[in-house]
Amino acid sequence: MFSVSSLLVLGLSAVAQAKVQFLGIAIAGGDIGCIIDGSCNLGQVEMPLSTLGGADGLGQMKHFVNDDGLNLFRLPTSWQYLINSEESASSVLDEGNAANYDQLVQACLSTGAYCMIDVHNFARFNGAVIGQGGPSDELFAGLWAALATKYAKEEKIIFEVTNEPHDLDIGLWVKTCQKVVTAIRKAGASSQMILLPGDNFDSAATLVSSGSADGLLSITNPDGSTDNLLLDIHKYLDVNNSGTLASCNTDNVGNFTALASYLREQGRQGLISETGASPQAQECFPAFCAQNTAINKNSDVFVGLVTWAAGSFGTDYVLTLTPTIDGNGNYVDNELMTECVLGPYGGSPSKTTKSATTAKKTSTAKPVASSSEPVSVSPSVSASSSSAKTSSSSSSSSSESACSSAYRRVSSSSAMSSGLPRSHCMRGPANPTSTPNAAGVVRAASNLAVAIAVGVALL
Ligand SMILES: *[C@@H]1O[C@H](CO)[C@@H](O)[C@H](O)[C@H]1NC(C)=O
Ligand SMILES: *[C@@H]1O[C@H](CO)[C@@H](O)[C@H](O)[C@H]1NC(C)=O
Repeated sequence: MFSVSSLLVLGLSAVAQAKVQFLGIAIAGGDIGCIIDGSCNLGQVEMPLSTLGGADGLGQMKHFVNDDGLNLFRLPTSWQYLINSEESASSVLDEGNAANYDQLVQACLSTGAYCMIDVHNFARFNGAVIGQGGPSDELFAGLWAALATKYAKEEKIIFEVTNEPHDLDIGLWVKTCQKVVTAIRKAGASSQMILLPGDNFDSAATLVSSGSADGLLSITNPDGSTDNLLLDIHKYLDVNNSGTLASCNTDNVGNFTALASYLREQGRQGLISETGASPQAQECFPAFCAQNTAINKNSDVFVGLVTWAAGSFGTDYVLTLTPTIDGNGNYVDNELMTECVLGPYGGSPSKTTKSATTAKKTSTAKPVASSSEPVSVSPSVSASSSSAKTSSSSSSSSSESACSSAYRRVSSSSAMSSGLPRSHCMRGPANPTSTPNAAGVVRAASNLAVAIAVGVALL
C-alpha cells in the first residue's frame, strides 16, 4: 500500500514538473584551442564577449533568458587560460586572464541565470592525467580552491570539475574529485552545486557500466553529506558520440531512461551539461527532440539540460545553436534550438522581443576583421586564428582543417595515443544560415498544449 501511494505521488509529480529545473546552453569560446589531451593553444581563445574581441555573449545570454526562458549558461575555459600558462600547471590564477573570465561570469550573472564554471581540460594537462602522471591532485584542488574563494558568495555559480575525463583509472579519478570537492567547500563555497564527471567523455551510455557513477556518487562534502553533489552527464547522437559529425545515428532515449532509473534507485540527481546535434542533418531533429523530451520527462533526477553550443561558434558550425540577428537587430534562434531544445521544455514564448537593443549589430565588426572577409550579420565572430578563417565557402572544410590540425597535435603527443578532437575544435566562419521558423513555433506551442492537456487529464 505504501509503495502504491508513493508511486502515485511520483507519477503525479513527474507530470506536474515534466521539465528540467535548469535549461541552458554553453557560451563557448574560452575553451577554443584546447583539445582532448588537455593541451591548449591560448592564442585561439575567443572569450565570448564583444569587449574581449569575441562574440556578443552578453547579448546572446540576454536573448536566451528574456526570449527563451533559459536560466543556466555553461562557460568553458581552461586551466591553462586561468593561470596563463600553456606549459606548467599551477594553482595561481593569472590576474589578467582571471579578470577576463570573470567579465564573462559577471555578464552571465547579470542576466539572473545560473553560471557554470567549466575547466575544459578532459581531466588532463598537456597530455597527462591529473593525479595519474600529470599535475598532482593538490595542484588541481588548489586551482579549484582559488576559483571557489573568488565565487564563494555567488549562490548561482555551479562548479564543473572538468570537461569529459577519458582513458583514466576511475578509482584514482574519484579520489581526485573528492579532493576538489573538499577544497571547494573549505574555500567557503559551501552550498553551490558541484558536477562530478566520469570516464569515457562523461558518456551517459557508460557512466554506470564503467563504475564512474558508483564511484563519483560516493564522494561527500566535508560534513559527510552529498548535498549538491551531482553526476555530470554528456552525450551526443553521432555514430561515435564525438559531437563532431553532421549526422545522428543513436537513439539516446534508452540511455537517458536507464540512467534516470539508476539515479532514482540511488536517490541522487544529475545534470546533463553537454549534448548537441547538427541542424544540418534532418534526422537529427526527431532524434534530438526525442532525447530532450526524455530528459525533461525525468526531471525528478535530471535537474538540468545544457546544450552545445553558442558563444563564439559561428552560425554554420556543425552543432551550432548560435542565434542569428535579423534585420531589426533581434536575435533569432535556429530551428533546432526552437524545435528540440525549447519545444520539449515548453516552447519558445516569443521569438522577437524588446531585447533588440541588446543585440549589438556592431559586434559583428570585430577588431581583427580584414576587408577581404565576407560581411556577416551573425552575432558570432569567426575564428580569430588565421587558420580557421581561410575558407568562407565551405564551413565543413574549414572545420575539418581546424580539427585535423588539432588532431595532429594530439597524435604527436606521446602521452596520448587514442582519440580525436571533439566538438570544441570544430568551427567555421560565421555565416547567417538560419531563418525564423514559424512552423517550429506553432509545433512547439501545440506540443505545450498537448502536454498541458495530458497533465490535466492525468490529474
Ligand atoms: C545506449 O547507447 C548505445 C549507443 O550509443 C547503445 O549501444 C546502447 O544499447 C544504449 N543503451 C540503452 C540502455 O539503450
Ligand atoms: C567519429 O567517426 C567519424 C566518422 O567515422 C570519424 O571521422 C571521427 O574521427 C570519429 N571521431 C572520434 C572522436 O572517434
